[in-house]
Amino acid sequence: MARQFSAQASSELETIIADFPNKKSALLMVLRLAEREFGFLDDSAMELVARSCDVSPAHVLGMVTFYTHFKRPYHGKHRFMVCATLMCSIGGPHGKTDDALQVLKEKLGLAPGERSEDGLFSVEKVECLADCNQPPVMQKDNEHKVRMGKEELSRYVDDLLKKEGLSAGHYSGKPVVRMDPNVPHISVKQSVPAH
Ligand code: FES
Repeated sequence: MARQFSAQASSELETIIADFPNKKSALLMVLRLAEREFGFLDDSAMELVARSCDVSPAHVLGMVTFYTHFKRPYHGKHRFMVCATLMCSIGGPHGKTDDALQVLKEKLGLAPGERSEDGLFSVEKVECLADCNQPPVMQKDNEHKVRMGKEELSRYVDDLLKKEGLSAGHYSGKPVVRMDPNVPHISVKQSVPAH
């Protein structure tokens, strides 16, 4: 079914487009609006954005796949994006990329590129998150985290599990799903915090 913006989002769309010299220039902002409106950017949302900005769906897809931060249907409700570029890989006093990935593997049973079968969590390695002097650096959805050592990250994930009504060992031995743009996502209520 073709997606449509709600009345409120349509009004925001008009305001956004009025701020730019032409509709095409507003593309990134309209993508953020669609991401917030629908919880992620699927094909139908991208087609709606293409129509709204007078560009081709292929142009929109190019933008969405270039900026890895956009939420896609195959991501978990909670996305852990761990910087795996040089400075974080080398690390500092608080730890390095591999330490963060080890905690996520232990707590969630997920390696980079995997999503929990229930659709709640996913883990990715990403390129530099622009805080290279404060490793390890990661983002959980729109939360930016620096210098998060193993113990702090463990506590953070335990708190998150608790908020989802799950116990600390819930994902031990559970099956995982390899994230793939061509694999249909399962239905989990998605949310994207406001930017
Ligand atoms: S290398 Fe990790 S934030 Fe830049």
